[in-house]
Amino acid sequence: MKTYTLNDGNKIPAFGLGTWKSPEGEVRQAVKEALRVGYRHIDGAWIYQNEKEVGQGIRDAIDAGIVTREEIFVTSKLWNTFHAPDDVETGCQETLTALGLDYIDLFLMHWPIAFRPGKSQHKAPEDFWPLAEMPLSKTFEAMLKLREKNLVKSVGVSNFTVSKLKQLIDESGAVPAMNQVELHPYNPQTELLAYCREQGICVTAYSPLGSSDRPDSMKAKDEPPLLENETVKATADKEGVTPAQMLIAWALSRDTVVIPKSTNAGRIAQNLAATEHNLSDEARAALENIDIHYRYVSPRGWFFPGITYEGESFWA
Ligand SMILES: NC(=O)c1ccc[n+]([C@@H]2O[C@H](COP(=O)([O-])OP(=O)(O)OC[C@H]3O[C@@H](n4cnc5c(N)ncnc54)[C@H](OP(=O)(O)O)[C@@H]3O)[C@@H](O)[C@H]2O)c1
Repeated sequence: MKTYTLNDGNKIPAFGLGTWKSPEGEVRQAVKEALRVGYRHIDGAWIYQNEKEVGQGIRDAIDAGIVTREEIFVTSKLWNTFHAPDDVETGCQETLTALGLDYIDLFLMHWPIAFRPGKSQHKAPEDFWPLAEMPLSKTFEAMLKLREKNLVKSVGVSNFTVSKLKQLIDESGAVPAMNQVELHPYNPQTELLAYCREQGICVTAYSPLGSSDRPDSMKAKDEPPLLENETVKATADKEGVTPAQMLIAWALSRDTVVIPKSTNAGRIAQNLAATEHNLSDEARAALENIDIHYRYVSPRGWFFPGITYEGESFWA
């Protein structure tokens, strides 16, 4: 399995299993199955509300002698309600308790957005905590301290743009080990990738297959399904792989980590097999032509007039 070395010296497997939307009753088995067939990296988060089952899947695999804790890489994410420096460790501990682990390999700030403590979801503008009052750099500095307590090995961010990364680095004086963002041929974010590379920040591609199992409430009308794109399908045919496998191989060819989600044993195996495929230059060129700057995941629903976040310019 290909690995990358993070800017703190730790190594991360380039391929992992996503667990957002993986239902209770399925995700435990999916995690164990993934580890059984050769996955060594599991991506989760407090807000996915399934970390207990993810942890049980990991425990099942360890107990069955499939892996040891040290052989696997577990990522989790600090939810927006835990941004106060004094709450950061609580957020981390809640994840550790749910997972049944004593450390996380990579802990990410899930969004550059703070909710008032105790508000696990926004309901009104006053549930948001203005960043002028609760700067992201203060949250990040508190996250870095978790390394000294051996609760986490590496610390990074998620959903950060170039301008937000620059501000974070300026204010905290530290460079995150990772930026996990939405990346696929509809939204390749080439400039962000180049900036991260320049700064030594590793990048993870989330929603690499187009996240088609998102709830309808999160979907735009007439959303273009990535796996149904004619270029994706025709190019995959030529490469002799499935569309999903081609998208995974595309992400790996850009030296990003990629974390497709599946709870289906056949697709879990199929996605892992994609790590063996070397994408041709022709395929890469064909996929470059379908960039439509389309995001499947966006905090659109979190924007209220009058709050201090930037509304539609969030991604600028
Ligand atoms: N940091 C963040 O803010 C953030 C945001 C979004 C996602 N993520 C992470 O990234 C992971 C992946 O993203 P995602 O869950 O949004 O979506 P995704 O991995 O792009 O797509 C998941 C969908 O693709 C299907 N699928 C999986 N393998 C397939 C295959 N070989 N052929 C056809 N369909 C296939 C899955 O169905 P089955 O399960 O039925 O196979 C599911 O419906 C998440 O699970 C999460 O861990 C992070």
